[in-house]
Amino acid sequence: MSSNTAPKRQDFPADFRWGVSTSSFQIEGAGREDGKGESIWDRFCSEPGRIRDGSNALVACDHYHLFPQDLDMAKALGVNAYRFSIAWPRILPNGTAGRGAVNEAGLAFYDRLVDGMLERGLDPWATLYHWDLPQPLQEQGGWLSRDTVGAFLEYTDIVTRRLGDRVKHWITHNEPWCSCMMGYWEGVHAPGGKSLADAMQACHHVLLSHGQAIPLIRKNSAGAQVGITLSLHPITAASDSAEDAAALKRHDGLRNRWFLDPLFGRGYPEDTLALLASSGNAAPKVEAGDLAAIATATDFLGVNYYFPEMVKADPAGGPMRASLVEREGVERTGFGWEISPQGLVDLLTRIQRDYNPAVIQLTENGSTFEDVLTPDGHVHDAERLSYLQRHLSAVKQALDAGVPVKGYFAWSLLDNFEWAEGYLRRFGIAYVDYATQQRTLKDSGLWYGQFLNE
Ligand code: FCB
Repeated sequence: MSSNTAPKRQDFPADFRWGVSTSSFQIEGAGREDGKGESIWDRFCSEPGRIRDGSNALVACDHYHLFPQDLDMAKALGVNAYRFSIAWPRILPNGTAGRGAVNEAGLAFYDRLVDGMLERGLDPWATLYHWDLPQPLQEQGGWLSRDTVGAFLEYTDIVTRRLGDRVKHWITHNEPWCSCMMGYWEGVHAPGGKSLADAMQACHHVLLSHGQAIPLIRKNSAGAQVGITLSLHPITAASDSAEDAAALKRHDGLRNRWFLDPLFGRGYPEDTLALLASSGNAAPKVEAGDLAAIATATDFLGVNYYFPEMVKADPAGGPMRASLVEREGVERTGFGWEISPQGLVDLLTRIQRDYNPAVIQLTENGSTFEDVLTPDGHVHDAERLSYLQRHLSAVKQALDAGVPVKGYFAWSLLDNFEWAEGYLRRFGIAYVDYATQQRTLKDSGLWYGQFLNE
């Protein structure tokens, strides 16, 4: 199959998992309803200048109320799995059960949502943490505090005891790189921190909370498959100079190996640790037993793939001394992200070669472009359609090369609140008119439906 021909569902194994992916904060809305507490993202949105269009997610796609029609749409598409996340502040408005009762209305919402999936033949894939930490925990230090690990375990226990009979696929964390590095170092995501050392400590606590949660999830959800989702990037060097090769190694250390190595039982990469130690003592504090916990066996590795990166040496640059190169003459999404289906093949084969996970689930992949809803109710998103087709062909290529990828989840079912970009970036295969909350399947969504129903 050439990458120019549209892929066919029959080209994939019969038991391949087909899904769509969403997250609580980005779609639910109902930000102040039924006892939901404030999250760090609610707080971040309320700070001037944080969100490009000055918006917030108090209403978003109003999925909290409209979820039956969203699940109907997913069912009509023909997917057999639905990835969603649970809003911690809906369950524990104060962050921990010790400082406030468990919010029954929050749990009841996820009962309805999960039951709605099961009634429609959609397998629920729940992410426990997709970045919406309860604000009261942030006031105690957020992920910088080791106590937040304990709070995450308490929350995990409550949620998995309640839903574990029906949800059999659990993802502990979504993209620790983003929640920690963008949130605590780059300052562009909540909580807006600007310290590399803080980011590394936050990352360590997030990974630790992942590892320690696994036995709890297994106890409360018999037979469950448990994993973590990472944002990973294939990275190349701008030239074959020794300096650029070193920059590549440094960047890959922080971006990819920092997460993969400890999860696969190798501890933190020595070269990255040494660089961190020499960058203002930024290596995290690690206690005895932490690395063993982080390496607790999982059932799958969740991979989110959006774009490849190219780096060159930058002696005057930031602490990790590699700078990103904007390749010329390549296709880009509306975000400026390079479009590279081959990058997905390279990434998947690299993960298999270097880490050999038993199962990889592609838990997110998608693109944003300027979408236009035509007066006759269409969104002709030819570029997103092509992106989707070519990335599915890339998945097939990786499968043929022997990579154990078992599922693909399109990001996202709906246009939604795209973090610091607010509503300026549409990633949905369905268009959302935020004024009316009307959903319209775009051409890409219509094609995905045809592909799935062939
Ligand atoms: C990923 C996030 C997801 C969404 C996409 C575009 O990094 O997991 O919530 O914002 O990017």
